[in-house]
Amino acid sequence: MMNYENILVTEANGIATICINRPTKLNALNKQTIKELNSAFKTVDENINIRVIVVTGYGEKAFVAGADIAEFANFSVEEGVQLAAQGHEVLFNFVENLNTPVIAAVNGFALGGGLELAMACHFRVASENAKMGLPETSLGVIPGYGGTQRLPQLVGKGRAMEMIMTAGMINAAEAREYGLVNHVVPQAELLDFCYGIASKIMRNSPAAIGQAIKAINANYKDSVDGFSTEIKAFGKCFGTEDFKEGTTAFLEKRKAEFVGK
Ligand code: COA
Repeated sequence: MMNYENILVTEANGIATICINRPTKLNALNKQTIKELNSAFKTVDENINIRVIVVTGYGEKAFVAGADIAEFANFSVEEGVQLAAQGHEVLFNFVENLNTPVIAAVNGFALGGGLELAMACHFRVASENAKMGLPETSLGVIPGYGGTQRLPQLVGKGRAMEMIMTAGMINAAEAREYGLVNHVVPQAELLDFCYGIASKIMRNSPAAIGQAIKAINANYKDSVDGFSTEIKAFGKCFGTEDFKEGTTAFLEKRKAEFVGK
């Protein structure tokens, strides 16, 4: 395992937990943290033993309170463009397109880039104390890490418009009602709850799950035809060991033993 300054990575039972660890800055995403997250996601995604990734924030207060405002306060137009483009490439789109399922365990404030990171994950579970919002317009900018795209996809255009225009926060119960998070649980149970979902995911074919992620994501990409992506992904499954094992196990009335990623 690599040593990181701002994140902690632990692995157990096929699950990697990536914990953003900058509690004195409420886990705000500075350049270094984003770089480390890219490296950690890449490393655990390439590890054939890791079947699910859980992302959370250190401590009881924050998941991630946003991009590090101190770092971009003096940026020019060009630097602003660069910041957003780079972020998409190394973290937000990168996470969304991983083959390994990524669950966001939202354990407190998820604001700005923090909510954008949670939204780039494949789905979200929140603790009861979590608060979510995109406060960028209160700082004179707009969400730049995918927030204007992924928030309307998840909660609908009207709610996204209101959240972004008011720069306000919603609580965990509201986030569940909006469809922004799938479940809300007491904070002390958050990680175990996510690991419980992970263990259900791990019963299934990693190869098929990777193809499913690709096909579902295609629904939200203007430049690709989701149905044709699904057809190709469906076909690919027929060439995998997992497919042979899954169908054989069913016909032999036994539990499938999938080989891994
Ligand atoms: N970037 C940089 N530093 C941040 C930060 C961010 N996004 N969010 C919090 N911090 C820092 C604070 O500056 C403070 O640092 P300091 O102790 O060195 O002064 C520390 O984290 C603790 O935050 P603080 O504001 O004192 O905590 P709080 O409990 O009073 O308020 C929040 C919590 C989340 C409401 C408040 O921190 C906040 O509004 N943060 C910014 C959220 C935001 O606009 N994010 C979008 C960025 S694009």
